[in-house]
Amino acid sequence: MSNEYLVEVKNLKQYFPVRNSKGKLVPLKAVDDVSFAIKPGETLGLVGESGCGKTTVGRSLLRLYKPTAGEIWFDGQLVTDKNMHEHRKEMQMVFQDPYSSLDPRMTVEDIIGEPLDIHKLCKNKAERRERVLELMKTVGLNAEQATRYPHEFSGGQRQRIGIARALAVNPRFIVCDEPVSALDVSIQAQVVNMFEDLQQQLGMAYLFIAHDLLVVHHMSDRIAVMYLGKIMEVADSDSVINHPIHPYTESLLSAVPIPDPKIARTRQRIVLEGDVPSPMNMPQGCPFRTRCRYATEQCAAECPTLTDRGNGHFVACWNR
Ligand SMILES: Nc1ncnc2c1ncn2[C@@H]1O[C@H](COP(=O)(O)OP(=O)(O)OP(=O)(O)O)[C@@H](O)[C@H]1O
Ligand SMILES: [Mg+2]
Repeated sequence: MSNEYLVEVKNLKQYFPVRNSKGKLVPLKAVDDVSFAIKPGETLGLVGESGCGKTTVGRSLLRLYKPTAGEIWFDGQLVTDKNMHEHRKEMQMVFQDPYSSLDPRMTVEDIIGEPLDIHKLCKNKAERRERVLELMKTVGLNAEQATRYPHEFSGGQRQRIGIARALAVNPRFIVCDEPVSALDVSIQAQVVNMFEDLQQQLGMAYLFIAHDLLVVHHMSDRIAVMYLGKIMEVADSDSVINHPIHPYTESLLSAVPIPDPKIARTRQRIVLEGDVPSPMNMPQGCPFRTRCRYATEQCAAECPTLTDRGNGHFVACWNR
């Protein structure tokens, strides 16, 4: 096992047992055989429509859900229930909604101090206080705000509190689950820039989940595109945005506004036909085939796996 990668996800599956309309228990395949790897200090962007399984990938990766199948490796070590507590210090998560992810009854000091307590990282109260204040400074909050409660803060400030809490244990990897999408557009850029500055200073790797392809392009070294629980395409960030190969990525990109009118005029808007199928009732073969303009019989018979099209550009498609 080489340690080129910090995080490796191998054939991850997360099936939730749910009842269908007839009351029968069926597996909802939220994540279905997903593999990827992230190098130290690297950002992998994860994009895809609502409900395609992005959050579930992040949560299963950190074992907030017990995976149905698959392996997570961290720094060359297989992560298990037994050693997860150790790894929790290395792998953290920043949540989408800074309103519901902070305990309203706790002060900022206690919210940020909690992981320090859990991992017994401070010898006494004074040391804990010092570390909390240092973390608050790192994310641009004032020391006087330490005794306040979450409701006294704006969305952007709350997200800073969530980030400080994630940083408390000096993680080497952070899952950032749509960390700016609940925030006002005017402050999204500030928070995105903060994630970048922190990475420069501290060298963490990120799995950066977002809807917004332009934000993901800005943030990420590589981008993975998900559809119905599967990764359809993964490549370096510029290749995915400028030379997409998978028809699903093409259609996602065709909906993104382009600032340059010359390029915008040449580009064709691809509108997908039909609805996203239910993950409780997935099509046989390729999950995208029911909406794909290139679909053939082979697509219905067999699900394509990711294959390398050169320079680390991986695509799961029979026809492109
Ligand atoms: N705990 C759960 N129990 C049952 N089904 C779940 C659970 N969590 C997620 N799902 C289902 O799994 C699928 C993937 O959900 P997930 O939240 O991972 O999507 P997402 O890509 O993060 O969406 P969004 O962009 O809206 O955040 C959805 O169909 C969702 O309804
Ligand atoms: Mg989500």
